[in-house]
Amino acid sequence: MPRPVGAATFEAPPNIALVKYWGLRDRARVLPYNSSISMTLDRLRSRTTVVFDPRLDDDVVQLNGDPARPGPRTAVVRLLDRVRAMAGVAARARVRSRNNFPTASGLASSASGFAALAGAASFAAGLRLSSAELSRLARFGSGSACRSIFGGFVEWRAGRRPDGGDSGAAPLAPPGHWPTLLDLVVQVRGAPEKEVRSQDAMERTVRTSPAYGRRLAALPRRLEAIRRAIRRRDARSLFPLVMEECDSFREVCETTVPKLDYLTPASRQVLALVRRINAEAGRPVAAYTHDAGAHVHVFVEARDARRVRRRLGEVDGVDRIRSLRAGSGAHRVRAARSA
Ligand code: DP6
Repeated sequence: MPRPVGAATFEAPPNIALVKYWGLRDRARVLPYNSSISMTLDRLRSRTTVVFDPRLDDDVVQLNGDPARPGPRTAVVRLLDRVRAMAGVAARARVRSRNNFPTASGLASSASGFAALAGAASFAAGLRLSSAELSRLARFGSGSACRSIFGGFVEWRAGRRPDGGDSGAAPLAPPGHWPTLLDLVVQVRGAPEKEVRSQDAMERTVRTSPAYGRRLAALPRRLEAIRRAIRRRDARSLFPLVMEECDSFREVCETTVPKLDYLTPASRQVLALVRRINAEAGRPVAAYTHDAGAHVHVFVEARDARRVRRRLGEVDGVDRIRSLRAGSGAHRVRAARSA
Protein backbone atom coordinates (compact mmCIF):
# COMPACT_ATOMS: atom_id res chain seq x y z
CA MET A 1 0.00 0.00 0.00
CA PRO A 2 1.58 3.38 -0.95
CA ARG A 3 2.01 5.76 1.99
CA PRO A 4 1.35 9.52 2.13
CA VAL A 5 4.25 11.21 0.33
CA GLY A 6 4.47 14.38 2.31
CA ALA A 7 2.71 16.54 4.85
CA ALA A 8 3.15 20.07 6.15
CA THR A 9 1.31 22.63 8.27
CA PHE A 10 1.57 26.39 7.81
CA GLU A 11 0.04 29.33 9.61
CA ALA A 12 -0.63 32.63 7.92
CA PRO A 13 -2.17 35.94 8.98
CA PRO A 14 -4.75 38.13 7.28
CA ASN A 15 -3.79 41.64 6.22
CA ILE A 16 -5.70 44.89 6.00
CA ALA A 17 -5.16 46.96 2.87
CA LEU A 18 -4.24 50.62 3.35
CA VAL A 19 -4.20 50.92 -0.44
CA LYS A 20 -6.60 48.49 -2.05
CA TYR A 21 -5.91 46.02 -4.83
CA TRP A 22 -9.05 46.34 -6.95
CA GLY A 23 -8.85 45.46 -10.64
CA LEU A 24 -6.75 43.03 -12.69
CA ARG A 25 -5.02 43.93 -15.96
CA ASP A 26 -4.39 40.21 -16.53
CA ARG A 27 -6.65 37.79 -14.72
CA ALA A 28 -4.83 34.60 -15.76
CA ARG A 29 -1.53 35.89 -14.35
CA VAL A 30 -3.23 37.78 -11.47
CA LEU A 31 -1.60 41.10 -12.42
CA PRO A 32 -3.24 44.18 -10.87
CA TYR A 33 -3.70 47.63 -12.36
CA ASN A 34 -2.33 49.32 -9.25
CA SER A 35 0.13 48.62 -6.46
CA SER A 36 -1.38 47.96 -3.03
CA ILE A 37 -0.09 48.35 0.54
CA SER A 38 -1.20 46.45 3.63
CA MET A 39 -0.49 45.84 7.27
CA THR A 40 -0.17 42.20 8.27
CA LEU A 41 -2.21 41.52 11.42
CA ASP A 42 -1.01 39.74 14.53
CA ARG A 43 -3.04 37.13 16.49
CA LEU A 44 -5.53 36.25 13.71
CA ARG A 45 -4.43 33.12 11.89
CA SER A 46 -5.37 30.50 9.32
CA ARG A 47 -3.73 27.15 10.01
CA THR A 48 -3.60 24.76 7.08
CA THR A 49 -2.35 21.19 6.82
CA VAL A 50 -1.77 19.47 3.48
CA VAL A 51 -1.08 15.75 3.12
CA PHE A 52 -0.39 14.29 -0.32
CA ASP A 53 -1.62 10.70 -0.31
CA PRO A 54 -1.45 8.37 -3.34
CA ARG A 55 -4.34 6.32 -1.88
CA LEU A 56 -6.79 9.18 -2.46
CA ASP A 57 -8.90 9.27 -5.64
CA ASP A 58 -9.67 12.96 -5.27
CA ASP A 59 -8.61 15.98 -3.23
CA VAL A 60 -10.41 16.23 0.11
CA VAL A 61 -10.80 19.80 1.35
CA GLN A 62 -12.08 20.66 4.80
CA LEU A 63 -12.52 24.28 5.93
CA ASN A 64 -13.26 25.01 9.60
CA GLY A 65 -14.31 21.40 10.13
CA ASP A 66 -16.75 21.11 7.20
CA PRO A 67 -16.29 19.95 3.60
CA ALA A 68 -15.49 23.03 1.50
CA ARG A 69 -18.31 24.42 -0.65
CA PRO A 70 -17.85 24.13 -4.44
CA GLY A 71 -16.48 27.67 -5.02
CA PRO A 72 -13.70 27.66 -2.41
CA ARG A 73 -12.98 23.99 -3.15
CA THR A 74 -12.33 24.72 -6.83
CA ALA A 75 -9.91 27.53 -5.89
CA VAL A 76 -8.04 25.23 -3.48
CA VAL A 77 -7.82 22.40 -6.03
CA ARG A 78 -6.50 24.83 -8.66
CA LEU A 79 -3.70 25.88 -6.35
CA LEU A 80 -2.93 22.23 -5.55
CA ASP A 81 -2.79 21.49 -9.30
CA ARG A 82 -0.31 24.32 -9.74
CA VAL A 83 1.86 22.90 -6.93
CA ARG A 84 1.61 19.35 -8.35
CA ALA A 85 2.75 20.64 -11.74
CA MET A 86 5.68 22.55 -10.17
CA ALA A 87 6.79 19.58 -8.04
CA GLY A 88 6.03 16.69 -10.42
CA VAL A 89 3.67 15.13 -7.85
CA ALA A 90 0.59 13.21 -9.00
CA ALA A 91 -0.97 12.31 -5.65
CA ARG A 92 -4.23 13.88 -4.47
CA ALA A 93 -4.20 15.74 -1.18
CA ARG A 94 -6.08 16.05 2.07
CA VAL A 95 -6.38 19.71 3.07
CA ARG A 96 -7.61 20.88 6.46
CA SER A 97 -7.76 24.56 7.25
CA ARG A 98 -9.05 26.49 10.24
CA ASN A 99 -9.33 30.18 11.00
CA ASN A 100 -9.38 31.60 14.52
CA PHE A 101 -11.65 34.43 13.26
CA PRO A 102 -14.86 34.74 11.14
CA THR A 103 -14.57 33.47 7.57
CA ALA A 104 -15.37 35.43 4.37
CA SER A 105 -16.80 38.51 5.99
CA GLY A 106 -14.18 41.13 5.45
CA LEU A 107 -11.48 39.84 7.76
CA ALA A 108 -9.57 38.61 4.72
CA SER A 109 -9.75 34.88 5.37
CA SER A 110 -8.97 34.24 1.71
CA ALA A 111 -5.63 36.05 2.10
CA SER A 112 -4.58 34.11 5.20
CA GLY A 113 -6.07 30.86 3.93
CA PHE A 114 -4.31 30.90 0.57
CA ALA A 115 -1.02 32.12 2.04
CA ALA A 116 -1.12 29.16 4.46
CA LEU A 117 -2.19 26.77 1.68
CA ALA A 118 0.63 27.89 -0.64
CA GLY A 119 3.15 27.27 2.13
CA ALA A 120 1.76 23.92 3.29
CA ALA A 121 1.09 22.49 -0.18
CA SER A 122 4.46 23.45 -1.64
CA PHE A 123 6.39 22.20 1.39
CA ALA A 124 4.41 18.94 1.53
CA ALA A 125 5.13 18.42 -2.18
CA GLY A 126 8.86 18.68 -1.47
CA LEU A 127 9.38 22.19 -2.85
CA ARG A 128 11.43 24.64 -0.79
CA LEU A 129 10.31 28.01 -2.08
CA SER A 130 11.67 31.42 -1.13
CA SER A 131 9.26 33.96 0.36
CA ALA A 132 9.06 35.76 -2.98
CA GLU A 133 8.21 32.49 -4.74
CA LEU A 134 5.65 31.56 -2.07
CA SER A 135 4.06 34.98 -2.44
CA ARG A 136 3.78 34.57 -6.20
CA LEU A 137 2.18 31.15 -5.71
CA ALA A 138 -0.28 32.39 -3.06
CA ARG A 139 -1.42 35.15 -5.44
CA PHE A 140 -2.98 32.52 -7.70
CA GLY A 141 -5.29 31.48 -4.88
CA SER A 142 -6.27 35.01 -3.86
CA GLY A 143 -4.58 38.21 -4.98
CA SER A 144 -4.26 39.74 -1.52
CA ALA A 145 -2.72 36.48 -0.18
CA CYS A 146 0.60 37.45 -1.78
CA ARG A 147 0.96 40.15 0.90
CA SER A 148 0.20 37.79 3.83
CA ILE A 149 3.43 35.86 3.24
CA PHE A 150 5.29 38.82 4.74
CA GLY A 151 4.98 40.48 8.14
CA GLY A 152 4.73 44.17 9.00
CA PHE A 153 3.90 46.61 6.22
CA VAL A 154 3.89 45.12 2.75
CA GLU A 155 3.60 46.43 -0.79
CA TRP A 156 2.46 44.43 -3.81
CA ARG A 157 4.06 46.23 -6.75
CA ALA A 158 1.78 46.11 -9.75
CA GLY A 159 4.64 46.11 -12.26
CA ARG A 160 4.27 46.95 -15.92
CA ARG A 161 5.57 43.95 -17.81
CA PRO A 162 2.94 41.92 -19.68
CA ASP A 163 4.48 38.66 -18.39
CA GLY A 164 4.25 39.87 -14.76
CA GLY A 165 7.97 39.41 -14.12
CA ASP A 166 8.09 42.71 -12.23
CA SER A 167 4.88 42.20 -10.19
CA GLY A 168 5.29 40.92 -6.64
CA ALA A 169 5.00 41.62 -2.94
CA ALA A 170 7.82 42.64 -0.61
CA PRO A 171 8.06 44.11 2.91
CA LEU A 172 8.09 47.90 3.32
CA ALA A 173 8.78 47.79 7.07
CA PRO A 174 9.08 44.94 9.62
CA PRO A 175 6.38 44.10 12.25
CA GLY A 176 8.13 46.05 15.04
CA HIS A 177 8.50 49.21 12.95
CA TRP A 178 5.54 51.11 14.46
CA PRO A 179 4.51 49.39 17.71
CA THR A 180 2.17 52.20 18.82
CA LEU A 181 -0.03 51.88 15.73
CA LEU A 182 -3.12 49.81 16.54
CA ASP A 183 -5.84 48.43 14.31
CA LEU A 184 -9.14 48.29 16.21
CA VAL A 185 -11.01 45.63 14.26
CA VAL A 186 -14.69 46.47 14.68
CA GLN A 187 -16.77 43.38 14.03
CA VAL A 188 -20.40 44.21 13.23
CA ARG A 189 -23.42 41.95 13.76
CA GLY A 190 -25.09 40.36 10.76
CA ALA A 191 -22.17 40.86 8.36
CA PRO A 192 -23.24 38.98 5.23
CA GLU A 193 -20.96 36.33 3.74
CA LYS A 194 -19.39 37.52 0.49
CA GLU A 195 -21.79 36.87 -2.39
CA VAL A 196 -19.49 37.64 -5.28
CA ARG A 197 -15.83 36.62 -5.36
CA SER A 198 -13.64 39.71 -5.26
CA GLN A 199 -12.06 38.95 -8.64
CA ASP A 200 -15.51 38.89 -10.25
CA ALA A 201 -16.60 42.00 -8.37
CA MET A 202 -13.52 44.00 -9.35
CA GLU A 203 -13.86 42.94 -12.98
CA ARG A 204 -17.37 44.38 -12.89
CA THR A 205 -15.99 47.62 -11.39
CA VAL A 206 -13.32 47.97 -14.10
CA ARG A 207 -15.99 47.43 -16.76
CA THR A 208 -18.77 49.64 -15.41
CA SER A 209 -17.65 52.22 -12.82
CA PRO A 210 -17.20 55.71 -14.30
CA ALA A 211 -15.04 56.58 -11.26
CA TYR A 212 -12.44 53.83 -11.81
CA GLY A 213 -10.18 55.78 -14.21
CA ARG A 214 -10.08 58.72 -11.83
CA ARG A 215 -9.15 56.38 -8.98
CA LEU A 216 -6.22 54.92 -10.94
CA ALA A 217 -5.00 58.39 -11.89
CA ALA A 218 -4.98 59.51 -8.22
CA LEU A 219 -3.18 56.44 -6.90
CA PRO A 220 0.53 57.06 -7.67
CA ARG A 221 0.55 60.22 -5.54
CA ARG A 222 -1.44 58.55 -2.74
CA LEU A 223 0.79 55.46 -2.76
CA GLU A 224 3.92 57.58 -2.43
CA ALA A 225 2.43 59.66 0.40
CA ILE A 226 1.34 56.51 2.27
CA ARG A 227 4.76 54.88 1.87
CA ARG A 228 6.37 58.02 3.28
CA ALA A 229 3.94 58.27 6.21
CA ILE A 230 4.59 54.62 7.14
CA ARG A 231 8.34 55.10 6.87
CA ARG A 232 8.15 58.13 9.21
CA ARG A 233 5.51 56.64 11.54
CA ASP A 234 3.49 59.76 10.85
CA ALA A 235 -0.12 59.14 11.89
CA ARG A 236 -1.15 62.73 11.21
CA SER A 237 -0.29 62.29 7.53
CA LEU A 238 -1.28 58.64 7.26
CA PHE A 239 -4.78 58.72 8.73
CA PRO A 240 -6.42 61.19 6.29
CA LEU A 241 -4.80 59.34 3.37
CA VAL A 242 -6.10 55.96 4.56
CA MET A 243 -9.65 57.34 4.75
CA GLU A 244 -9.34 59.06 1.36
CA GLU A 245 -8.24 55.72 -0.11
CA CYS A 246 -11.10 53.84 1.57
CA ASP A 247 -13.59 56.41 0.28
CA SER A 248 -12.17 56.03 -3.24
CA PHE A 249 -12.53 52.24 -3.01
CA ARG A 250 -16.11 52.58 -1.73
CA GLU A 251 -16.95 55.08 -4.48
CA VAL A 252 -15.88 52.71 -7.26
CA CYS A 253 -17.83 49.88 -5.60
CA GLU A 254 -20.98 51.96 -5.25
CA THR A 255 -20.81 53.19 -8.86
CA THR A 256 -20.32 49.65 -10.18
CA VAL A 257 -23.32 48.28 -12.09
CA PRO A 258 -24.94 46.40 -10.44
CA LYS A 259 -23.82 48.21 -7.30
CA LEU A 260 -21.42 46.58 -4.83
CA ASP A 261 -22.32 47.35 -1.24
CA TYR A 262 -20.34 45.61 1.47
CA LEU A 263 -21.41 47.65 4.49
CA THR A 264 -24.20 47.28 7.04
CA PRO A 265 -25.85 50.28 8.75
CA ALA A 266 -23.56 49.64 11.75
CA SER A 267 -20.45 49.81 9.56
CA ARG A 268 -21.63 53.15 8.17
CA GLN A 269 -22.21 54.45 11.68
CA VAL A 270 -18.65 53.50 12.58
CA LEU A 271 -17.32 55.51 9.61
CA ALA A 272 -19.45 58.49 10.66
CA LEU A 273 -18.27 58.23 14.28
CA VAL A 274 -14.59 58.24 13.24
CA ARG A 275 -15.22 61.41 11.18
CA ARG A 276 -16.95 62.97 14.21
CA ILE A 277 -14.12 62.03 16.61
CA ASN A 278 -11.59 63.66 14.29
CA ALA A 279 -13.72 66.77 13.82
CA GLU A 280 -14.20 67.16 17.60
CA ALA A 281 -10.47 66.80 18.27
CA GLY A 282 -9.46 69.04 15.38
CA ARG A 283 -6.82 66.45 14.39
CA PRO A 284 -6.81 62.99 12.81
CA VAL A 285 -7.12 60.84 15.94
CA ALA A 286 -8.31 57.78 14.01
CA ALA A 287 -8.67 56.42 10.48
CA TYR A 288 -11.25 53.97 9.18
CA THR A 289 -10.89 51.49 6.39
CA HIS A 290 -12.68 48.36 5.20
CA ASP A 291 -12.07 45.73 2.56
CA ALA A 292 -14.80 43.89 0.64
CA GLY A 293 -16.75 43.18 3.82
CA ALA A 294 -18.74 44.82 6.59
CA HIS A 295 -16.19 44.87 9.42
CA VAL A 296 -14.36 48.16 9.85
CA HIS A 297 -10.71 48.60 10.78
CA VAL A 298 -10.01 51.74 12.80
CA PHE A 299 -6.37 52.80 13.11
CA VAL A 300 -5.33 54.72 16.21
CA GLU A 301 -2.16 55.55 18.09
CA ALA A 302 -1.96 53.58 21.38
CA ARG A 303 -2.43 56.70 23.53
CA ASP A 304 -5.88 57.33 21.97
CA ALA A 305 -6.95 53.69 21.77
CA ARG A 306 -8.94 53.38 24.97
CA ARG A 307 -11.08 56.47 24.35
CA VAL A 308 -11.78 55.63 20.71
CA ARG A 309 -12.53 52.02 21.54
CA ARG A 310 -15.06 52.99 24.19
CA ARG A 311 -16.94 55.20 21.71
CA LEU A 312 -16.87 52.56 18.98
CA GLY A 313 -18.30 50.08 21.47
CA GLU A 314 -21.35 52.32 21.93
CA VAL A 315 -22.39 52.00 18.27
CA ASP A 316 -25.52 49.92 17.88
CA GLY A 317 -24.72 46.68 16.01
CA VAL A 318 -21.05 46.48 16.99
CA ASP A 319 -20.40 42.97 18.18
CA ARG A 320 -16.77 42.88 19.17
CA ILE A 321 -13.65 45.01 18.95
CA ARG A 322 -10.17 43.51 18.78
CA SER A 323 -7.02 45.58 19.13
CA LEU A 324 -4.32 44.29 16.79
CA ARG A 325 -0.78 45.29 15.92
CA ALA A 326 1.33 44.56 12.89
CA GLY A 327 2.37 40.92 13.04
CA SER A 328 4.62 38.37 11.41
CA GLY A 329 4.01 36.66 8.08
CA ALA A 330 3.34 33.05 7.06
CA HIS A 331 5.46 30.30 8.60
CA ARG A 332 5.62 26.53 8.98
CA VAL A 333 4.49 24.90 12.23
CA ARG A 334 5.34 21.48 13.64
CA ALA A 335 3.20 18.64 12.33
CA ALA A 336 2.12 17.70 15.86
CA ARG A 337 0.09 20.93 15.99
CA SER A 338 -1.69 20.41 12.69
CA ALA A 339 -5.04 22.07 11.77
C1 DP6 B 1 -10.84 44.86 -1.13
O1 DP6 B 1 -7.59 39.18 -2.79
O2 DP6 B 1 -9.86 38.83 -1.77
O3 DP6 B 1 -9.57 43.29 0.10
O4 DP6 B 1 -8.30 37.36 -5.66
O5 DP6 B 1 -10.82 37.26 -5.58
O6 DP6 B 1 -9.49 36.42 -3.66
P1 DP6 B 1 -9.55 37.38 -4.83
O7 DP6 B 1 -9.58 38.83 -4.25
P2 DP6 B 1 -9.05 39.35 -2.88
O8 DP6 B 1 -9.37 40.91 -3.08
C2 DP6 B 1 -8.98 41.81 -2.11
C3 DP6 B 1 -9.68 43.06 -2.29
C4 DP6 B 1 -9.60 44.01 -1.11
C5 DP6 B 1 -8.41 44.93 -1.20
C6 DP6 B 1 -7.07 44.36 -0.82
O9 DP6 B 1 -6.98 43.47 0.03
O10 DP6 B 1 -6.10 44.87 -1.37
